[in-house]
Amino acid sequence: MQRTQVAIIGAGPAGLLLGQLLHRQGIDTVVLEKHSRGYVEARIRAGLLEQGTVDLLHEAGVAERLEREKLVHAGLELAFAGRLLRVDLQELAGEVVTIYGQTELQKDLGDARAASGAATVYEAGQVTIHDFDSSRPRVGWTQDGVRRELECDFIAGCDGFHGVCRASVPAGAIRQHERVYPFGWLGLLADVPPLADELVYANHERGFALCSMRSRSRSRYYLQCTPTDRVEEWSDARFWEELARRLPPERVRGLVTGPSLEKSIAPLRSFVVEPLRFGRLFLAGDAAHIVPPTGAKGLNLAAADVRLLSRALIEYYSDNSGALLEEYSARALRRVWQATRFSWWFTTLMHRLDEDPFSHKLQLAELDWLAGSRAGRVALAENYVGLPFD
Ligand code: APR
Ligand code: PHB
Repeated sequence: MQRTQVAIIGAGPAGLLLGQLLHRQGIDTVVLEKHSRGYVEARIRAGLLEQGTVDLLHEAGVAERLEREKLVHAGLELAFAGRLLRVDLQELAGEVVTIYGQTELQKDLGDARAASGAATVYEAGQVTIHDFDSSRPRVGWTQDGVRRELECDFIAGCDGFHGVCRASVPAGAIRQHERVYPFGWLGLLADVPPLADELVYANHERGFALCSMRSRSRSRYYLQCTPTDRVEEWSDARFWEELARRLPPERVRGLVTGPSLEKSIAPLRSFVVEPLRFGRLFLAGDAAHIVPPTGAKGLNLAAADVRLLSRALIEYYSDNSGALLEEYSARALRRVWQATRFSWWFTTLMHRLDEDPFSHKLQLAELDWLAGSRAGRVALAENYVGLPFD
């Protein structure tokens, strides 16, 4: 039977980054991914990195193109009630954020994995995990019609929200916390210059809007929509028109429209499972938690999990100590809950929540307070740039 030290399920950012950090310490891994490399690299995701995530990508040796192509943002803008409030992240929290598409990062990680020569199985069918409550876990999958098996020391469940790892844990051993929001995000990607130098988050009676970007020539815009909206109902023209209605005039002036490269609708949810460790199975990234996209914490949380998990596995193999592995779940969850709270707060502050004008009045009062309170803006900025890792 084939053997490895760590079997990594899922070749998203969490799985590949973990693989890279372990590879650099001489730890053998096999990555099993159910989709093709092309499919994984074509997915359009968020594009905002905390400094801690950027530092980790450097540590993993995958930051070369990021350093060449990144945009650095020292602030953001909040639009509400006809006003535009700049939040100076650098001045308030002492840090900046980095704009670099997750799609690009996924390609960089895929290239690094291929260059490392470590085993990666794309299009692995019917992945199953076994005996993770024993000292000899196993992983099974189907490849070219043949059933295969791998023995390992540990299984890293980096297989996203719909993966097999979390689903393989007996129901009595795991607790789920969930909140589903009654709206979605309709995203549009286009090769047009961004309407402003920084991101604009808009609270509007008609619903939330976000102006983001991937580069100086590629923009990513989002509109709050209903969960039952269908992409086919949103022509490009309707999207641009609705976006303009939700933005203040001084920003609409900078809006350049163009044909969409991609349009999709994503539901919004908060989801956390506890614990993140089950014997020799460890969950990381979207397999363990989902945040609503407001504030772009999803990828950054995945990176924070992987940072802790990689350090714990490295300690296990170099010092023969399981101390950090023991601590992984509690330490990761502490930061996960902090980011869950922030993402929930930012979502609740900026979206149209219901038909009741009372909710909207409360939001406007809070935004008005933020505009006048440095303490309020510091709280936003500290969370937005990313809380400390430890
Ligand atoms: N077997 C093997 N692979 C699987 C299985 C399975 N049964 N189920 C899912 N996968 C793969 C998916 O195809 C996907 O490529 O696991 C990978 C999980 O990757 P992501 O969903 O990108 O999750 P993660 O790596 O945790 O990244 C978190 O990505 O989803 C965004 O918002 C999220 O930005 C965050 C970041
Ligand atoms: C994105 O660019 O996709 C993005 C940026 C910031 C967010 C959410 C999404 O808060």
